[in-house]
Amino acid sequence: MEYTTLGSTGMEVSSLCLGCMSFGSSEWQPWVLDEEESREIIERAIDLGINFFDTANVYSSGKSEEILGNVLAEYDRDEQVVATKAFLPPEEDPHPNATGLSRKTIEQELANSLDRLGMETVDLYQIHRWDYETPIEETLRALDDAVRRGQTRYIGASSMWTYQFADALHTSDRLDLERFATMQNHYNLVYREEEREMLPFCEREGIGVMPWSPLAGGYLTRPHDELDATTRGETDKYIDRLPYRDGGGPAVNERVAELAADHGVTMAQIALAWLLHKEWVTTPIVGTTSVEHLEDAVEALEIDLSDSDIEYLEEPYEPLPVAGHE
Ligand SMILES: NC(=O)c1ccc[n+]([C@@H]2O[C@H](COP(=O)([O-])OP(=O)(O)OC[C@H]3O[C@@H](n4cnc5c(N)ncnc54)[C@H](OP(=O)(O)O)[C@@H]3O)[C@@H](O)[C@H]2O)c1
Repeated sequence: MEYTTLGSTGMEVSSLCLGCMSFGSSEWQPWVLDEEESREIIERAIDLGINFFDTANVYSSGKSEEILGNVLAEYDRDEQVVATKAFLPPEEDPHPNATGLSRKTIEQELANSLDRLGMETVDLYQIHRWDYETPIEETLRALDDAVRRGQTRYIGASSMWTYQFADALHTSDRLDLERFATMQNHYNLVYREEEREMLPFCEREGIGVMPWSPLAGGYLTRPHDELDATTRGETDKYIDRLPYRDGGGPAVNERVAELAADHGVTMAQIALAWLLHKEWVTTPIVGTTSVEHLEDAVEALEIDLSDSDIEYLEEPYEPLPVAGHE
């Protein structure tokens, strides 16, 4: 495994982060694994040297955090980097203050997440989206207090407009509060809108970039007319709303297949290798329900793409409407 520094922090993370949205309960989403099956993937990830895990309070209504915490409890906590998030409304027991980024919600949700994880501290606490209802000053003061209390070591943000992220960083600097250290954004070969502003901005500000859905939720792992061939492809309503099949998506997918055949590797490995060649990416968050696919992802770290391979993969892309946040 290769390790890299997370943005301008001093913390070292594996060059792949394990996404834990697929762990929890099939009652939440039909493709989600239960504890026993999830354990196998998390343990294999640790064997392979992955030290960075991303979950959220809403994944399987908290069960993902519980499972991750149960498995990691059997290992040395010092060796792990654990990230979770708040903001989105829970599907079970929703109440007005279960969602958003007010001081009340952040304090409650962080305490609940730590409880489920069975940890006193997470390494990275992220806001899942921008909260249009709460002033960013309130959110940042609550997050800064959480750092001072030792409940999280760093804070991070996820999909939002670049002007919002710039506003947040500027507010932290103005008020001398903890700054967001990371951006978890939507970025892959068939969704590259983040290259316009967010990624160059993150590079300038020394922000660690951890793209979500690096394989476009599976679209880049098989021929485009076979997206529905897996339970997730068939049932994940969220992927259906993302514009992967529009614009140049199918042509990019075909070129991924062509290069995979040329290099003798899988489509997933080519799509991931492309992302790993992008200097502004720190660590993609891979999501999988299969040990074999996890091993594929780790092998992708060794794939060398030439400049002409990269140009060939990128060429059919056409601008898309912004997707993944509002
Ligand atoms: N911040 C946010 O708003 C946000 C949004 C979405 C996700 N996330 C984070 O990002 C993580 C990853 O998201 P994602 O699951 O959408 O990521 P993804 O890696 O783009 O897609 C995962 C899909 O690709 C398939 N896949 C992976 N490797 C494969 C291989 N080698 N061959 C064939 N198929 C393969 C998986 O199927 P198998 O299960 O069969 O391997 C799964 O269906 C999540 O776990 C979560 O932590 C964050």
